[in-house]
Amino acid sequence: MVVRVRTGIPGMDEILHGGIPERNVVILSGGPGTGKSIFSQQFIWSGLGMGEPGIYVALEEHPVQVRQNMAQFGWDVRKYEEEGLFAMVDAFTAGIGKSKEYERYIVHDLTDVREFIDVLRTAVKDLNAKRVVIDSVTTLYINKPALARGIIMQLKRVLAGLGVTSIFVSQISVGERGFGGPGVEHGADGIIRLDLDEIDGELKRSLIVWKMRGTSHSMRRHPFEIADSGIVVYPDKVLKKRGVLEIE
Ligand SMILES: Nc1ncnc2c1ncn2[C@@H]1O[C@H](COP(=O)(O)OP(=O)(O)O)[C@@H](O)[C@H]1O
Ligand SMILES: [Mg+2]
Repeated sequence: MVVRVRTGIPGMDEILHGGIPERNVVILSGGPGTGKSIFSQQFIWSGLGMGEPGIYVALEEHPVQVRQNMAQFGWDVRKYEEEGLFAMVDAFTAGIGKSKEYERYIVHDLTDVREFIDVLRTAVKDLNAKRVVIDSVTTLYINKPALARGIIMQLKRVLAGLGVTSIFVSQISVGERGFGGPGVEHGADGIIRLDLDEIDGELKRSLIVWKMRGTSHSMRRHPFEIADSGIVVYPDKVLKKRGVLEIE
């Protein structure tokens, strides 16, 4: 039987027929503003509520800003940080400025994948973490796409080996097809794509599970919303090009 990690995002686990199979590395791909960071923060927050320690690796935004963004949805991680159940890995500031006074896990040189992996491994072991988010992996190989697959496979070996279920955020441009390049796409156990499409003069959010090793899943494009409490996915609705269609 497959052990599943529930995302805890309303509607999402129905689409995944129960959740993400344990130890999977899932690429969460989408253009700017599609909700990748919010989705992955919600995944970590839900885990904390289920007693599963989590780690958020911040490469795109200042860790302080990530905590603030999360608090806006009512996801105040400070208590969990104090209890050693949540940790931020600061791969954003390089330890410059005040962050070295209050961040426990800092990556100083992003061109050094070994340092990145060492810091991450230490954090996972310290917390006995079950969930990890890397936001985004694109930042790790943006200037060296040929290294993408190697970096993804290295991260995957370490994280799966430690029993962790991971979300790797992959950035693509507006209108780009695919999920971020062959390196990430083939290395991952799962692919979820978030989209923002203009339909009848309005931006509509939707997501599709393209691949998920170890489970069947919905093959449909489902609309979702970002509400005050976070993301809500509609498993009973399908987004067609011409609008939302209710299904039985
Ligand atoms: N409180 C909120 N309520 C509704 N939508 C929000 C809220 N906060 C942010 N958003 C939406 O989420 C988007 C940013 O989501 P984010 O996860 O940061 O995107 P990405 O990481 O894919 O670039 C914003 O552009 C906005 O549309
Ligand atoms: Mg983001």
